[in-house]
Amino acid sequence: MSFNSSLNEALWIRQKAREHTELFRNSIPLIASENLMSPLTKEMVISDFNNRYAEGLPGHRYYQGNKTVDEMETRVEELVKKLFDSKQADVRPISGTNANQALVFALLQPRETILTPSLDSGAHISSAEFGAVGMRGCNIKNMIFDTENMKVDVDGTRKVLLAERPKVVLFGFSVFLFPAPIRELKDTIDEVGSSVWYDGAHVLGLIAGKKFQDPLREGADVISGSTHKTFPGPQHGVILGNTDDEKWKRVRRGVFPGVISNHHIGAMAGLGVTAAEMIEFGESYASAIIENAKMLGGELYSRGFKVLAEKNGFTESHTLLIDVKDKGGGKHVAEELEKNLIILNKNMIPGDTNTKAQNPSGIRIGTQEATRIGMGKSEMSHIAELIDRALKGNDVKEEVLELKRGFQEVSYCFGKERGYDFIELYK
Ligand SMILES: Cc1ncc(COP(=O)(O)O)c(C=O)c1O
Repeated sequence: MSFNSSLNEALWIRQKAREHTELFRNSIPLIASENLMSPLTKEMVISDFNNRYAEGLPGHRYYQGNKTVDEMETRVEELVKKLFDSKQADVRPISGTNANQALVFALLQPRETILTPSLDSGAHISSAEFGAVGMRGCNIKNMIFDTENMKVDVDGTRKVLLAERPKVVLFGFSVFLFPAPIRELKDTIDEVGSSVWYDGAHVLGLIAGKKFQDPLREGADVISGSTHKTFPGPQHGVILGNTDDEKWKRVRRGVFPGVISNHHIGAMAGLGVTAAEMIEFGESYASAIIENAKMLGGELYSRGFKVLAEKNGFTESHTLLIDVKDKGGGKHVAEELEKNLIILNKNMIPGDTNTKAQNPSGIRIGTQEATRIGMGKSEMSHIAELIDRALKGNDVKEEVLELKRGFQEVSYCFGKERGYDFIELYK
């Protein structure tokens, strides 16, 4: 390849980044697992931290040049522990799945039993037969799920617990509408002697904002999470602990050398900045996310959408799950809305089998990113109307563009009004 043609390749990729940025500048973002970083967090992600390695833990590294990394990592850990009021924190996992892999290594040996929700009740693939847990060779048993209420069935699950006596009980959902019944099952869990692992990838920002539930006080030993869903930070992961030193030592080793070498230090610094921002703004952000989700659920329901868990108020989190079989199915609905610049995803609903993953019966909506850019209840009502009209065959693109024009700034974070120039490292 000549210099000119390789330069063109590079510029073509940059052009795609521009087009992509433009698409999201113009669209209504409703994917439940995404969010926007604050300006100061973004600066950390592209700082020189991003070019470096720092294997190990502060004070126990393998390379030179890590003095400031050590200081920063120690402070990030302290900030995260303060935000979540946890005894322990590991800020090195590079994603939620990576945090889950580390916990699988730390908590489970091959052939040991883990009790988790099933995929069609909203679990993540990392706890499935073909995901991290299954690939570790563990014996997977599923909790009983009450599909009408979209909650774990406590009595049914208690019976499974007593029959299967799992080494680990994992509460975690990619469609996490209602708090997990840790407290309700804790006596039985203690009788069986299981460890409690809470996968908070989706709801981490809500927990940071003291909403939804407080897993560490309710009986979880460890929490894994992504730091870029309701927690509005960089693409990274985290593990929080309220456990004994011996188990925590296994978690540390599960992370490194278990599943990471380099831990993406720029993103880790960004996690620290976002944690500081969440200490300041997390409670108001989490409240607004949940209010918006309830509002959007109600507005869609009143327009005839089959929003699940209607009798429980649709959701206690950022997420809504909607049965759209009567509107052509999840794939069709998600694609029609994308044509109108409304971005969400098709999703399995209870009753869908794994073979339906590419054309499931539902769609999933999250309000965390729309809330992050300052949208409130009246915008939720407007969005429900736009979704409804788009699915009745109307072209609502121009109205979406008009609505989105007024919501371009990230809120619930430190901004220029506080006197900080975010590009100072790069002048
Ligand atoms: C419950 C749950 N756990 C883990 C993950 C994985 O997180 P990540 O995408 O950060 O690897 C997800 C992702 O959506 C999830 O929903």
